[in-house]
Amino acid sequence: MDKMIIHGGVALRGTVALSGSKNATLPIMMASLLTADPVIIGNVPRLRDVRTAVDLLVRLGVQARWIGEHELELRAREICSHEAPYELVKTMRASFVVLGPLLARAGRGRVSTPGGCAIGARPVNLHIAGIRALGARIQLRNGYVEARAPQLCGARVWLDSPSVGATENIMMAAVLAKGTTLIENAAREPEVQDLARMLVAMGARIEGAGTHVIQIEGVERLHGAQHRVIPDRIEAGSLMIAAAITGGDLMIEDAPADQLAAVIDKLREAGVEISAHNCGLRVTSKAPLRPVELRTLPYPGFPTDLQAQMMALLTQSSGTSVITETIFENRFMHAPELLRMGADIMMKGPTAVVRGPSHLSGAPVMATDLRASMSLILAGLTADNETEVSRVYHLDRGYEALDAKLRSVGARIDRVPA
Ligand code: UD1
Repeated sequence: MDKMIIHGGVALRGTVALSGSKNATLPIMMASLLTADPVIIGNVPRLRDVRTAVDLLVRLGVQARWIGEHELELRAREICSHEAPYELVKTMRASFVVLGPLLARAGRGRVSTPGGCAIGARPVNLHIAGIRALGARIQLRNGYVEARAPQLCGARVWLDSPSVGATENIMMAAVLAKGTTLIENAAREPEVQDLARMLVAMGARIEGAGTHVIQIEGVERLHGAQHRVIPDRIEAGSLMIAAAITGGDLMIEDAPADQLAAVIDKLREAGVEISAHNCGLRVTSKAPLRPVELRTLPYPGFPTDLQAQMMALLTQSSGTSVITETIFENRFMHAPELLRMGADIMMKGPTAVVRGPSHLSGAPVMATDLRASMSLILAGLTADNETEVSRVYHLDRGYEALDAKLRSVGARIDRVPA
């Protein structure tokens, strides 16, 4: 279990490149189960979650081969197991999304329920209701969802909330179903859209991805395809905040400005300067920062996956900021760690009141989840003295070579074995 040691106070300057989106890559990898042909996925980030997904697919019978540093070939010639075991699903909830493609291709799947996690209960009821609506028989036994469907049939599925994972799971179940499926109140996230592009490249008939209603006409079979994963908008937002919190000047190559509209708006409101260029987004910032009010919302609203990082930034604003987390019920685990560094944060239910500017000083702090880890690194970049962030394995799930990227723009950050 490595640690990150950070000596703060350096304004980050230079150009930094983004990796491929983790949240797009994982379901796209699962889509390989839908065909016996090879699929080639480019711009795949080398992350712990991607390794976990490869492990899971290999157990199901998929041949996996890296054909370049970021290019992965997957071939599910035959499905030899229908089970996603607890030890994998508990480490990565996105594994649950194999249920849809397994059922579609093989007529059955046995997938462990993920259980809760640090940020909330995160049930899978919407996934199950949607797949059941397509005609699968589903039982919950020994902590596993056991599903069977010799032939899935298209149906109308209304999602009570626009769950990203449920939309992806149902979409992958529906592509080989008989007839038409309508997913209403679907998630609109760019990662759902990227999965739809991959499925269309494989021969699926999907319309409306990126809107509230996705229509899928089932086809007889899918074929191989090549697809390049979109850049990671959450990594982009995290690096924008790194520029802002250090009073730096970063060019973030290929940052998807359209997907970051809500983030750009809030950062500008806080006084951060952002300009769009052909090569990406340039972010500069000079103190003092202003306070803001923000609510996390489904896309295109402010992403919950940048809430923790934004909280670190707002500790440096002059005045009172209010953050309301509406997606997950327990996503302020980073706040007590920020308090230990000198932040002034009061939490009540889904709301955190952040008073600033606080003089942060380095401390040993503990990462509790992926995005919380990043918020502690950001706080460390602006703090006095040394910050030691432990449990860095959370960070490795979702940020590729983060320490090297930050060092390349001047940060004093080192990874050391614990
Ligand atoms: C995905 C992202 C995650 C992001 C989240 C919200 C991946 C791999 N992960 O997670 O980084 O934070 O979207 O943008 O893409 N819910 C239910 N029942 C369900 C499903 C979800 O109640 O069956 C609830 C969850 O508990 C949560 C909310 O809906 O409160 C949103 O969850 P969802 O959109 O499904 O998130 P994930 O797909 O798990």
